[in-house]
Amino acid sequence: MCGIVGYVGPSEVSGRPLDVVLEGLRRLEYRGYDSAGVALVGPGSPQVASAKKAGKLANLLAELEANPLPDASAAVGHTRWATHGGPTDRNAHPHLADGGRLAVIHNGIVENFAALKAELLAEGVTFLSDTDTEVAAQLISRAYASSKDLTVAMTEVARMLEGTFTLLAVHAEHPGTVVGARHDSPLVVGLGDGENFLGSDVAAFVAHTREALELGQDQVVTITPSAVEVIGFDGAPAQGKRYSVDWDAAAAEKGGFGSFMDKEIHDQPQAVGDTLLGRTDLDGRLVLDDLKIDEAVLRSVDKIIVVACGTAAYAGHVAKYAIEHWCRIPVEVELAHEFRYRDPVVTEKTLVVAITQSGETMDTLMAVRHAREQGAKVVSIVNTNGSTIPRESDAVLYTHAGPEIAVASTKAFLSQITAAYLLGLYLAQLRGNKFPDEIAVLMDELRDMPSKIQAVIDRGDHVSATALSMRDATSVLFLGRHVGFPVALEGALKLKELAYIHAEGFAAGELKHGPIALIEEGQPVFVVVPSPRGRDSLHSKVVSNIQEIRARGARTLVIAEDGDEAVLPYADEIFWIPQAPTLMQPLLATVPLQIFAMALATAKGLDVDQPRNLAKSVTVE
Ligand code: M6R
Repeated sequence: MCGIVGYVGPSEVSGRPLDVVLEGLRRLEYRGYDSAGVALVGPGSPQVASAKKAGKLANLLAELEANPLPDASAAVGHTRWATHGGPTDRNAHPHLADGGRLAVIHNGIVENFAALKAELLAEGVTFLSDTDTEVAAQLISRAYASSKDLTVAMTEVARMLEGTFTLLAVHAEHPGTVVGARHDSPLVVGLGDGENFLGSDVAAFVAHTREALELGQDQVVTITPSAVEVIGFDGAPAQGKRYSVDWDAAAAEKGGFGSFMDKEIHDQPQAVGDTLLGRTDLDGRLVLDDLKIDEAVLRSVDKIIVVACGTAAYAGHVAKYAIEHWCRIPVEVELAHEFRYRDPVVTEKTLVVAITQSGETMDTLMAVRHAREQGAKVVSIVNTNGSTIPRESDAVLYTHAGPEIAVASTKAFLSQITAAYLLGLYLAQLRGNKFPDEIAVLMDELRDMPSKIQAVIDRGDHVSATALSMRDATSVLFLGRHVGFPVALEGALKLKELAYIHAEGFAAGELKHGPIALIEEGQPVFVVVPSPRGRDSLHSKVVSNIQEIRARGARTLVIAEDGDEAVLPYADEIFWIPQAPTLMQPLLATVPLQIFAMALATAKGLDVDQPRNLAKSVTVE
C-alpha cells in the first residue's frame, strides 16, 4: 500500500534530504498514488516544512517547484493508497501536530483510531483530516510533550495502536533524527556513510546504498546521520538483520522501455533463468539451500495447501497440476483471505506454500500465521528479500525475478511457477516419486524455457497489432483447460487491471454449463490450446470448444503450439508459441496475454504501470 521514505544526513549538503526523499517516492510510487507529500526539518527551523498534494507525485513536484521548501537535514516522504479519508490534499500525508513541529507519515490502518480520536477530541484536540494517521500524530505529540524524546513518544504510541502500521516521525526540535515504528507493515533501514535511510522497501534507497537492515516485528528504529538504534515496543534493545541488496538501481529503471510493464515482460526469460540458477549439485540432484525444513517432515507431508492472492494464486493453480502429477500429494489452492477466515483442515502433516511477490501481502501473511498456529509447516515462495512473509515462514524459496515495479504482475508470475515447480520436483526427489533421471529431464525442460519465452516475446508485434484493432472491445473471454485454465484466469485479470475491460476466464469444459450463453456475434474469446503432443484428448476437447463458440459467432483468438494445424480452420487470429511439454506451457502461453493487455491499455491511453485504484503491495486486509 503506501510508500514511505525517511532520510537523515549532514545538514551542510544542500538539497540532499529533499532530493533523496523525492527519488525514493518516485521509486515507491508503485505502492500507491492517491497523493504524495514530504516533511523536512533542519537546524534552527522552528517548525516542520511540508508540502502535500492529491494525485500522483508529479503534482507534488509541481507544487514544490512553485513553492520551494527550505534546506534541511532530515526528511520524510509518503505516497498514499487511500484507506481512511478520500484521496484529497487534506488527507494526504504528512500530518502535522504539536503546533506544526511534528510530522508523521503512515502505511497501514489503525483499527482503534475511532476510540483514540474520541479521547483526543474530548481533550480538545482539533483534526484537520479524516485520516487515522492524524490520530497517531496527535498521540505522538501528546506523548512527546511529557518526555521530549521522539523515540520514547513513538514507542509509547506504538503500544497503543491496533491494526497494521509503519509510522515515521520527524520533529523540529530533533533536526538530525527520524524515528520509525513497524507492526505488520514493512520498514527497512538503508545504511549509508554519514547518512541513513528508511523505506517501505529497499527501492526507496537502493540508488544510495545496497546495505540494508531488516527490522523485526514490533520494533522502533531511530536513525541519525551516524547511528541506527533499534528497540522493541517494550523499550528493550533489539537487533535488525543486516543484508546486502542483490540488485542495483538500474534494475529498478525502465531501461529504455516505454513502461516498467514492457520492461518486466521482456525481463521474463532472465527472471525464469535466474530462478533456476544454482538449484542442482554436481550430480544433478536438486538442492534447495533455502528450504530449511527437516527432510523427515517433508516426507511425511500428506497435503499441500497453497495460499496466495491474485496472480500469485494463479501461479499456485498452475503448480497444483504439476505437484500432484509429480509427487502424488493432494494440493489445494486457496485464496489467502478465504483460507484465513474459514476453518481449514490443517494438521502437522500439512505443508502450506505461501506464494507472494512482495512478501508483504497482509491476507497472505495472516494465512501464514494461521497455518503455523495450526501446526503446519510453511514454505514461502517470495520475490522480495527482507520482506515479512519469509521471516515468518519455516522456509523460503526465493524467486529471482528482480524488482517488479509495474503494479500488475508479469515476471513474478512466471518465476513463481518456476519456483513452485522446483519445490514440486524437490519433493518428488525426496519422497522417491521420481527417479533422478526423470527429474533431470524435467529440469532440462525447465532450462529450455527462457529461450522459448524469448521467442514468444519476439513474436509480440502480432499480438500488439491485434490489441490495437480491439481498442473498442468491451468484453473479452478467456478459455483454457488443465494448466491452460489458470493461464486463462491470469489473462483475464491482466486485461481487467490494465485496460479496465470486462474480462473473464473459464475452464473450457465449463463453457457448456453456462458461460456459453455469453457468446454472441463478434464476442472476442482467447483460447489457450494444449499441446497436441500431450494427452490428445485434452487437445481435441479444446479444439471442439473452439468450434462450439465459433459456431455461435465468437471471434476466436487462439494461442497454439507451432505446427498445430488442427486449430487453423477455427482461429480468427492465431498466436504461435514454441512447442513445450504441457506442464511447461503456462510459461509461454501467458506471455501473449500479458502483451495483449498491455498493448490494449496503451492504445486506450491508459497508464499501464499504475492502473487506477490498485497498489502493488496490499498491506491491509
Ligand atoms: O505481492 P503478492 O504476490 O502477494 O500480491 C498478490 C496480488 O495482490 C497480486 O498478484 C495482484 O493480483 C496483482 N495486481 C496482479 O497483477
